[in-house]
Parts: sequence; structure tokens; C-alpha cells
Amino acid sequence: MPVEAAARVAAAADPMLPRPFRVLATRRETHDTMTLELAALDGEGLPFAPGQFTMLQAFGVGEVPISISGDPGRPDRLVHTIRDVGGVTRTLCAAREGDVLGVRGPYGHGWGVSDGAGGDVLVIAGGIGLAPLRAAVLELVASRDRFGMVHVLHGARTEADVLFGEELLAWASGSDIELAVIVDRAATSWTGRVGLVTELLGGAAFDPGRTLALVCGPEVMMRFVAAGLVARGVPPGRVRLSLERNMRCGVGLCGHCQLREYLLCVDGPVLSLDAVRRQLGVREL
Ligand SMILES: Cc1cc2nc3c(=O)[nH]c(=O)nc-3n(C[C@H](O)[C@H](O)[C@H](O)COP(=O)(O)OP(=O)(O)OC[C@H]3O[C@@H](n4cnc5c(N)ncnc54)[C@H](O)[C@@H]3O)c2cc1C
Ligand code: FES
Repeated sequence: MPVEAAARVAAAADPMLPRPFRVLATRRETHDTMTLELAALDGEGLPFAPGQFTMLQAFGVGEVPISISGDPGRPDRLVHTIRDVGGVTRTLCAAREGDVLGVRGPYGHGWGVSDGAGGDVLVIAGGIGLAPLRAAVLELVASRDRFGMVHVLHGARTEADVLFGEELLAWASGSDIELAVIVDRAATSWTGRVGLVTELLGGAAFDPGRTLALVCGPEVMMRFVAAGLVARGVPPGRVRLSLERNMRCGVGLCGHCQLREYLLCVDGPVLSLDAVRRQLGVREL
């Protein structure tokens, strides 16, 4: 049996065994964030749902959960957008074309984008939170006529931290997507809005009862956004949040990712506000 096929069979039998993927291309997104495009050495793709993640391993360094930021219509290309915050992510961000990384997954529950069909969709991202949402936007773009208004609201620390800048503009001009970007701190060159991403909600036109909201960012940001959405009348069951906890196994074995009765690696990372409103401290109206 060829080595690649043997690796695939072994990985299927042991969920802790990574499959080898080669780095095909790297792209710098911001000063601390890189996108890696990977392909499996065995040539087999990795079908996934937007919002799912993989356990991505830099051999000899460590393994971390990273959401898939690529196009769900291209399972032959595994795309990850990674912010350098520590030991493992630094090594992953430094990966070069041709390097081999280990991949387990895809794991977890995704956004369930198609639940928004026939209504409006709000995509609300703080910082690197736009990475897991990029796959959802690509799904929306691919079947744009199934949805009403689609808004992408992105908050970043500074202009230099705005993620996927050119792509955001292309979505807005070519795919009938309403785009709003806001930064926490502005240099003189910035002519856009300054403030928190919650402030963008007020300017977005949508029909709350028929809206699906997908939210990812720091937990404090998600708390305020969720409260704002509920105040506008979006049903809590249609507000979906991607939550992060430390993860080790990714498959429900170790308990590291526990959040109350949920193991986020299998029950999440995307959960509805209904499930986590007490945890987030979002009050009932
Ligand atoms: C389901 C899921 C999906 C994720 N998707 C992405 C993604 O698409 N892109 C991306 O860049 N990152 C993503 N992350 C976060 C990423 O896993 C962490 O940044 C990474 O584990 C940090 O490991 P490290 O060894 O580089 O840093 P460490 O040395 O472990 O940590 C460095 C610093 O980052 C903090 N940190 C560690 N883990 C996390 C975490 N999970 N969330 C927030 N802060 C953390 C630590 O407290 C410390 O301050 C995701 C996390 C989860 C749980
Ligand atoms: S990461 Fe081990 S149970 Fe979720």
C-alpha cells in the first residue's frame, strides 16, 4: 500500500493521528496574520462545513485548533488563516511552500448557513473572527440568490488589522453584500468609522424576525453584539456564536474544551445564543 494511503487508513482508525498536508501557498494578510493553502499528500480532499475547524500540527512543536477559512466548494484546498499569538501559531505562520503539516478533522458544528435561506443574514466579526466567517461568506456568495440582505460587519483594532481587505471590497461590489468596517483606533489616513463593531448594527437594515446572525470575535464583543441583536428583535435561536476554549483532542475525549454541559469540540464551536446566553451574560428581554 502506498505511504499516503496507509496514512489515510491509519488516521481513519485513530482520530488522534494527523494526515500529512503540504503547504501549496502562503499569503500575508496583516502584520501578524497569514493564510496557508494546503493539500493532502494522499490527494484526497477535506470536505467541510463553514465554521468547522481542524487540529493543525506543526510537527515537533504542537497542535492547535484552527477554523477553516476556505471555500467549501473547494474541498481539495484546505485554507487556514492564522494569527501569530504564541509558540504553535508562530511556527504555523512561518510555514513555507512545500512544508508538511499534520491535519486532523474537520471537527465540530458549523454555522448552518443554509438556515438563513429566504431571510437576511448578518455576518459580524471582530478581528481574526472574520477567518471562520470567511467560509460562511463564500457559501453565501455562491448561492447569493437564496438570501435577502447580506451584511458583513467587521471590527478591527486598527486599519492595519482589517482582514481580507481587498476581498471585502470585492464581495461588496460584486456580490451584493453590504459591507461596513470600523476600527478601534484610527491613524490620520483612515477615513472610515471609529468605534466598536456593535455601533455598526444600528446602520444595518434587516428584518429581525427573518434574520440569521453569525458572530465571531472576542467573547466580550460577542456578548455586546448578541445583546444588541436581541434588542433589535433577532430571535436568540437565530444568533449563532463561535466560541473558543483550549482544545487538546478535538474529538470529545479529554474534556479540555468543556463549557457547562457542552464539549465545544463536538457540540460547538458554533452554538446558538439560546444555548449560551447565561454563560455570556446576555439577559432575556
Ligand atoms: C475552535 C477554534 C477555532 C480557532 N480558529 C482560529 C483561527 O481560525 N485562526 C487563529 O488564528 N486562531 C484560531 N483559534 C485560536 C488558536 O487555536 C489559538 O490562538 C492557539 O491555540 C494559540 O496557540 P499558541 O501555541 O500559538 O499560543 P499559546 O502560547 O498557547 O498562547 C498565546 C496566547 O494566546 C492565548 N490563547 C491561547 N489559546 C487561545 C484561544 N483558543 N483563544 C484565544 N486566546 C488563546 C493564550 O492565553 C496566550 O495569551 C481557534 C481556537 C478554537 C478553539
Ligand atoms: S478538546 Fe478534548 S474534549 Fe474537546
